[in-house]
Amino acid sequence: MNDDLFRLVYYSRNHIRGDADTFDAHVGDILARSRTNNTRDGITGALLFNRGCFAQVLEGPLATVEAAFERIQQDERHGDVSLLALDPIAARSFPNWAMGFVGASDVDAGRFAGVGASSGFDPSRLSGDEIHTLLRDLTIEEEAA
Ligand SMILES: Cc1cc2nc3c(=O)[nH]c(=O)nc-3n(C[C@H](O)[C@H](O)[C@H](O)COP(=O)(O)O)c2cc1C
Repeated sequence: MNDDLFRLVYYSRNHIRGDADTFDAHVGDILARSRTNNTRDGITGALLFNRGCFAQVLEGPLATVEAAFERIQQDERHGDVSLLALDPIAARSFPNWAMGFVGASDVDAGRFAGVGASSGFDPSRLSGDEIHTLLRDLTIEEEAA
C-alpha cells in the first residue's frame, strides 16, 4: 500500500435539525466515531462548524482518507458535500488531532473576524487552502489554551 500522506478538504451543509442539545448530541457522536476510526486508520484532522456548514480537513494515507470520505459522504447528517482539495503533503498539519472540533463558539467566530471579513466566515466561500489554514490556526489556538 502507498503510505504517502494526502490532505483532503471538503465542506458540506448541516442537515441536523432541532435544538442546540440535539445538535450537540449528534456532533458528540460524529466526533466519537471519528476519533475511534481515525486513530485506527492513521487519519488526523479537524472539523469546523459555522453558519450551518461543516468544513473538514482529513490527512493520512490516501486509501484510508478516501475510504473515510466515502463513509462521510453517505452520512445523512449533512449534504451537498463538496470536495475542495485532495493533494499530497510532506507533513501533517494536525499531528495531535484524531479529529479536532473548532469554530462553533462565538469566541472562535469573533477571534477570527479577520477571516470573516472576506468570507463572512462561511466555509462554502473559502478555498481548500483557506479552510486548511483557518483550521490549522484554530487548532493551534486550542492547543495553546
Ligand atoms: C461532518 C461529519 C464529519 C465526519 N467525520 C468523520 C471522520 O473524520 N472519520 C470517520 O470515521 N467518520 C466521520 N464521520 C462519520 C461517518 O459519516 C460515519 O458515521 C462513520 O464513519 C461510521 O463509523 P462506524 O461504521 O464505525 O459507526 C463524519 C460525519 C459527519 C456528518
